Amino acid sequence: MFALRQHTSDCIFKVMSSMSKEKWRPGREDVECFIEWDPTGVYIGELNGKPIGFVYMIKLHPTCCNFRCFFIEKTYRGNGYGIEMFKIATKDLSPSQNIIAYSMTDMVQKYKNRFGFQDYWIAPVFSINLSSALKKLSQFQTNSNSLVVKTFKEIDFKALRDYDAVMFGYQREAFLNRFLITLGTHARVAVSSDGTIVGYVVSRATYDTNDGYRLGPFYANSLDIAIALLKALLKDIPTQESSLILDVPTSRNPDAKRLVEILDGAHLFDTTFIATKGIPNGHIEHCFALVAP
Ligand SMILES: CC(C)(COP(=O)(O)OP(=O)(O)OC[C@H]1O[C@@H](n2cnc3c(N)ncnc32)[C@H](O)[C@@H]1OP(=O)(O)O)[C@@H](O)C(=O)NCCC(=O)NCCS
Repeated sequence: MFALRQHTSDCIFKVMSSMSKEKWRPGREDVECFIEWDPTGVYIGELNGKPIGFVYMIKLHPTCCNFRCFFIEKTYRGNGYGIEMFKIATKDLSPSQNIIAYSMTDMVQKYKNRFGFQDYWIAPVFSINLSSALKKLSQFQTNSNSLVVKTFKEIDFKALRDYDAVMFGYQREAFLNRFLITLGTHARVAVSSDGTIVGYVVSRATYDTNDGYRLGPFYANSLDIAIALLKALLKDIPTQESSLILDVPTSRNPDAKRLVEILDGAHLFDTTFIATKGIPNGHIEHCFALVAP
């Protein structure tokens, strides 16, 4: 019998290891961070008591819920467990709630036909080599003289939290608080001459350290600010031979597309933003990398 129950992070950790072996490159402490965000939003799928999959249904707001990290172990796929997991995890949501997600582009038609999602924009996934990215950024001249790039410990967390809430569109203080101290995390914040936050970037270590880092959230008010932030962040990462993976809403932010071109990002696959009740709050046009998966 297939059943869904709310997390215990040790169970999810086992399934996470399968996810990592398939090279989805999840962050090492993602489960703990998502539990901080919504303690009731992390589900484990079990077949006769054995954990075989998981899904996050993070409530961002009473009107909006984020469906993410949808995974069933390879040997159990194609038996209806994925759809079952989605149905159970959404059954208590109010019908007026907007469910938002980044879907594998191949899956979009299924979500549209079965659950009434609409598709909005593409966010391709890229891999970047750290040391060559840093060399490219170092040659790149920016007009960011009036900008100071700081570590997150040097700034007022509340100001960062508020900037993130405007950019992301929803308050996520508990998540950010946990995310910024996860193992292998590096973060930089850009502050203008009048002390206003104008961008920030975070990278985190992946579950398997050989898979390098994941970038995001990464927001900036301009391309120059994004370049200044990334330069400072990459210098902070000690293992320069590793790679960085990032999901970029290129069709909504031309500056992010340009940045990936500058960095010579290798395209891995496409994801598509889908929602049941329209585009949520936030400034996707200033987003250079999403928190994914
Ligand atoms: C996506 C996933 C969770 C679905 O779980 P599952 O138990 O295999 O799903 P189900 O058996 O309930 O089938 C879901 C439907 O989606 C389809 N599907 C699954 N993966 C697909 C893909 N990559 N592309 C297109 N269709 C896909 C199945 O063919 C099935 O369609 P059908 O009912 O018309 O035959 C599972 O395939 C998985 O873990 N994939 C790897 C991670 C991933 O891609 N996550 C999804 C991110 S959107």
